[in-house]
Amino acid sequence: MKNNGIVIFGGTGDLAYRKLFPALYNLFCLGKLPRDYRIVGIGRRDYSQEDYKNIVRDWMKDFSRLKYTESDFNEFKELIHYYEMDMSKEEDYNGLIDFLNNQGIIKSELIYYYAVSPQLFLPITNGLKKVQCCTGKTKVIIEKPFGENIESAEKVYDSLREYFKDENIYHIDHYLGKEMIINIMTLRFENAIFSGVWNKDFIEKVEINAYESVGVDSRGGYYDKSGALADMVQNHLFQIMSIVAMEKPEDSSSYMIKEAQGEVFKSLKPIISENIDENLVMGQYKGYREEEKVNSDSTTETYVSLKVEIDNDRWRGVPFILRTGKKLHTRESEVVISFKSMSKNAGGNSIIIKIQPDEGVKLDFNIKKPGTENQIEKVGMDFCQSCILENRENTPEAYERLLYACMESDRSLFSQWNHIELSWNYINNIIDSYKKYSNKLYMYEQGTKGPKEAL
Ligand code: BG6
Repeated sequence: MKNNGIVIFGGTGDLAYRKLFPALYNLFCLGKLPRDYRIVGIGRRDYSQEDYKNIVRDWMKDFSRLKYTESDFNEFKELIHYYEMDMSKEEDYNGLIDFLNNQGIIKSELIYYYAVSPQLFLPITNGLKKVQCCTGKTKVIIEKPFGENIESAEKVYDSLREYFKDENIYHIDHYLGKEMIINIMTLRFENAIFSGVWNKDFIEKVEINAYESVGVDSRGGYYDKSGALADMVQNHLFQIMSIVAMEKPEDSSSYMIKEAQGEVFKSLKPIISENIDENLVMGQYKGYREEEKVNSDSTTETYVSLKVEIDNDRWRGVPFILRTGKKLHTRESEVVISFKSMSKNAGGNSIIIKIQPDEGVKLDFNIKKPGTENQIEKVGMDFCQSCILENRENTPEAYERLLYACMESDRSLFSQWNHIELSWNYINNIIDSYKKYSNKLYMYEQGTKGPKEAL
């Protein structure tokens, strides 16, 4: 079921410029976008078609994975259109349809991409409904966070389902398109040395870290209403956790994989409200309140460390510690699996799955230090996948992979509604307990590892 183009609501936003256009440009350069494909960016700004194409050009120079060339871009820009409208006003959608018709773009064969803050999801769906854009072919991609809490997520989902077919709704979680996250299953299930010890008898704890050195930049308006728990933990980190923790799926179909992940969400042990401080630490970087479009007395968290437990036979008693934050000392995402020690003389092994910026796997183990009788030291085997030039050149960016998968109607790398529902329920309970029993927000210096109180 091929689509003939994509409409990007939020076509003048950060996501469109940094991720979506580079992904589309790279697909185009690789010959994976038909020459008659159409890309319509939608925004409120008063740009001419030429202005918009020139802005996209500048971003491609900075953000394209493949080398930018003038000749490729000159062909690519023929695919691009810009339409100015207020996405929150239903009456503006008639104009959009006239515009699409005038360009010869078939409205029902498009992918509609909601690259906007969650408050606009409902108005956009209502606007599209009003002008009857949808047939069985029309697809919609919505960006996380899906809603602002479980109630608004349900509303958004219900309204989408009234209009779009279930199998045409794509919930994007771009971490699921990252090379090393896709690789976790192979690593776990295709290696006897890992697969046999992937449980509570051998593993002491699991840490999933996504550190960012950037702040909120121009996204203060969105971020201040969201915060790190909803922006990163409820989706990206929970998805990684579910892949690290799931049972081996019965087969490799996307359905079975999603089912196996879903079981992990169902087994999350509720956190006892009164003990919330033992399981959750929230922080905010100093200077956050002075950021553009952020409330001057904001209590939004820009750092979270959260300890959860999966209450099943494989994992009972093993803490999973999830950490993420902005304006930290480094940009680095990784999964660290720490094994129990075999004796009091040596520390346990660890496996580090490096997600970004380096991609690879590191295994630490104990040996006898050469020349000594029994002194033990830790050594590492380090496989850096992204250090191999050929791998780097051939590895698509997450958005490239995901947009292409949507065009091909491949849903395996997308998040699905029951995961979103289960994870929102869990996170909402945590937020309620935090508000009732804690409300502590630790300030941290920019460029550090976050609050010293962190788990
Ligand atoms: C997005 C969050 O989903 O992921 C951003 O909204 C965050 O706040 C970004 O910066 C991180 O993505 P990546 O791919 O740079 O780790």
